Amino acid sequence: MKIRKAVITAAGWGTRFLPVTRSQPKEMLPLVDKPLIQYSVEEAVNSGIEQVIIVTSAGKRSIEDYFDRAFELEHFLERKKESGLLQRMQEISSMVNICYIRQKEQKGLGDAVLTVKDIVGDEPFALMLPDDIINSKVPALKQMTAICEKYGSGVIAVESVGDEDTRKYGIIEPEKVEDKVYKVVGLVEKPEPSEAPSRLGIIGRYILTPAIFDILKITPPGKNGEVQLTDALNTLLKQEKLFALELDGTRYDAGTPLGWLKANVDLALKREDIASELRKYLKKLL
Ligand code: G1P
Repeated sequence: MKIRKAVITAAGWGTRFLPVTRSQPKEMLPLVDKPLIQYSVEEAVNSGIEQVIIVTSAGKRSIEDYFDRAFELEHFLERKKESGLLQRMQEISSMVNICYIRQKEQKGLGDAVLTVKDIVGDEPFALMLPDDIINSKVPALKQMTAICEKYGSGVIAVESVGDEDTRKYGIIEPEKVEDKVYKVVGLVEKPEPSEAPSRLGIIGRYILTPAIFDILKITPPGKNGEVQLTDALNTLLKQEKLFALELDGTRYDAGTPLGWLKANVDLALKREDIASELRKYLKKLL
């Protein structure tokens, strides 16, 4: 199964990051010096994706502007003979073919995925939730496409979560098939720890087959009154196999202030131009 398209959902309110998200899309918060969403776009490109589809909503125009050409800025940098910076700016707008669609009401992740039905068409696709930043040698989506090809099925990324965190994730009922790979037997969205079938939580990377769309159309609102992708995947199991992969790498939930701060520090410590000064500063602080 060749995966050509990646869907990135960027339509949510960003309530866990209020008040800054009152007037600024969460996806445009900076991680070091790039917006959150650029990390997902780069991961997609580095995994061989040819087209990115971003699901936005009202108030998210700055995402489209960001990936567009910025002629005035380019002209300015050209005049200032900032050729390195100019090249970096041009690369952002030419990275990949991106199209946008709006989710008109925030009715849940399942509903957001349904908006791309006609754009994706009848082929498997990747789904990325840009809050989840995955720092790994092999890009996360690439790790997943390898499993998708091996088993010929959809794949979701999972990670071990603590008892106190089952309420934050979709939790799978796993059947181990090889190191770090599980056949998914069932899924529950954000269960209490006592109801959770395991401690493997879904993180924001999925490879889905187009069968999910017809199921989403008839999936009623679930947890928190939202159409849940997790519920649709549970129904999908009656028709198709689904696998789960524990990724190699570090994942940050950059959609919360604490996760975002951790991601900023770790990523900055990997930057040659920043690391040594930052390390000195952190040592002094501690
Ligand atoms: C969504 C999914 C959930 C998944 C999580 C990963 O929840 O519904 O199953 O575990 O993303 O980040 P959200 O975080 O949007 O509430």
